[in-house]
Amino acid sequence: MKLQTKKRLKKNVYKGDTMPPPPPELAEMLAKYHGQPDALITVLEEIQRHYGYLPRHHLEYTARELSFPLSQVFGVATFYNLFQLKPPGRHQIRVCTGTACHVGHSKVILTHLKEKLGINEDETTPDKLFTLQTVACVGACSLAPVMVVNEHTHGRMTTDKSWQAIQPLHDENDVTEVES
Ligand code: FES
Repeated sequence: MKLQTKKRLKKNVYKGDTMPPPPPELAEMLAKYHGQPDALITVLEEIQRHYGYLPRHHLEYTARELSFPLSQVFGVATFYNLFQLKPPGRHQIRVCTGTACHVGHSKVILTHLKEKLGINEDETTPDKLFTLQTVACVGACSLAPVMVVNEHTHGRMTTDKSWQAIQPLHDENDVTEVES
């Protein structure tokens, strides 16, 4: 880390605060956007990309380095559906509830998956394997109703097909647990 960056963090993040210094990779991210209040969403996206979610302490560091009230940083982090405040499960399932998918009865698929997984929307299964979420539109409306599992988009979903898309990941985990 450059000397100038270190000085800046010392002055703006550590002064008078009782929190330990941020991890080096977070300090590097924050230093890049220091003094850029309009970069808040970009910073949060970068933190989430790196950690998989937005740890609370990291939001506190972000608030101080970008000179935002913590409530505002939390406000943005909780307003946008793409941000997660809890560690996600190993596999992320997103059921699209945008207009085209809604018309195609995506709610029925969502309800089916809730029942099969035993969790509600925005929750993670107790074995930390699956997180279930909704998304507004993934840009594949011609395939509605759509579900995204990790990075894979599954179109023309039915309740049966939605579970078939997930089951191999479930079974794969059982095998891994037996082997380990
Ligand atoms: S509304 Fe679901 S992909 Fe566009």
